[in-house]
Amino acid sequence: MARESWTSRVGFILAAVGSAVGLGNVWRFPWMTAEYGGSAFLVVYLCIVLLVGVPGLLAEFVIGRRAKRNPAGALARLAPGTKSWGYVGLFGVVTGLVLLSFYSVVGGWIVRYFVASFTGSYFAEPGAYFDAISFGREAAAFQIAFLALTALVVLGGVRGGIEKATKVMMPLIVVLLAVLAGWAVTQPGAGAGLSFYLDFDPTPIKRNPIDMLRAAAGQALFTLSLGVGTMITYASYLGEDNSLAFDGSTISVLNTGVGVLAGLVVFPLLFAFQGGLSDTASGGGPGALFVSVAGAFQQVPYGEIVAVGFFGAILFAALSSSISMLEIPVAYLVDEHDVSRRNATVGLTGLVLVTGAVCAFNPGIFGFVAGTLVDLMLTAGLAGFLIFTGWVLGADALAEFDSGAGGVARALGTPWLWSVRTILPLFLLVTLAVNLYAL
Ligand code: PFF
Repeated sequence: MARESWTSRVGFILAAVGSAVGLGNVWRFPWMTAEYGGSAFLVVYLCIVLLVGVPGLLAEFVIGRRAKRNPAGALARLAPGTKSWGYVGLFGVVTGLVLLSFYSVVGGWIVRYFVASFTGSYFAEPGAYFDAISFGREAAAFQIAFLALTALVVLGGVRGGIEKATKVMMPLIVVLLAVLAGWAVTQPGAGAGLSFYLDFDPTPIKRNPIDMLRAAAGQALFTLSLGVGTMITYASYLGEDNSLAFDGSTISVLNTGVGVLAGLVVFPLLFAFQGGLSDTASGGGPGALFVSVAGAFQQVPYGEIVAVGFFGAILFAALSSSISMLEIPVAYLVDEHDVSRRNATVGLTGLVLVTGAVCAFNPGIFGFVAGTLVDLMLTAGLAGFLIFTGWVLGADALAEFDSGAGGVARALGTPWLWSVRTILPLFLLVTLAVNLYAL
């Protein structure tokens, strides 16, 4: 059977943006920014996206398009005779399952807020509401609903499911966030939130530079879906005439833009309606998104309708990311072990139901997986992919990079390859060591 491919270039970009843009932008980014000191975190994060994220994304594209396989198969096939590279890819497959285990808990929160938006039942006491619903039996039930939706899209295959769905999801979320941000920044009290977010204050960097770097690097990789092999898998369905450099830059800019926009919604709202950040989970932690927007929905006319649209769009964005997490292990079983797509999807979803329930019932484990463990696994994974691209593929990587690229992009190929060989893996390995030390 011929391998499927994207129906168009826009289809690929949209799907990759769909994977990148998700709860990482609208939920994890405000949480991390709040936790690590606002504007300083934003600056460090943006630098890492540009200097590490974009070249890293291109490395994954190069591997994927060259091998036309899932990450484990790709690395094994491109380095024949050495089994160990296949394990690096396999590590990504496992990471995908770990990610989905906690991501589906948050996805479940989104489903719940979407439903609750019809009546506005969380508007009045947003903090108490979040604290009451975020973990436990009901959280697990909504998580199952989210996982079921994810599995349904993955079952549809590359063209049928992922591509079609993403085309609708992306523009909607941008428009809704932009409208909300425009409204949020004009509210009385919003100024303090804006200044927390945008007025550069280096104090948090000076206080703990290493910790800041570690967290910002983890967030940069998470938001671009790097270090797992998602982008390897997506690029494996790509034709040789796409300019990887152009597509990679477009995806990074769109993705980062959505994250920054989400910050413009969350921080002004938190300061305008909730009196700023608090130390509780709902004030400055994993609940920041949910609590902040509730304040807005209570004030605006027809708040329930706006809320339904908002959480509906976020649900779409979350799904286009979660399907990319599930797609990696599914593609692995289909490509490498001849399992049918249906059996692979059903079996793996069943597995995540179990690992995910552990996160849904235990806030401590959830926090560890969603924060520290994710930072650690993504950093290790991307370091492996970069070393592979730079040292195993070498000149072949450059040839793949150049294929379909215009003049400007080609000029960037050599410096890109050198950074992929040297400074970038070094940076990630140091970050990894810091992550391990912080355990
Ligand atoms: N980038 C996604 C987000 O920001 O929500 C999360 C993600 C998806 C990370 C897929 C990793 C991945 F492989």
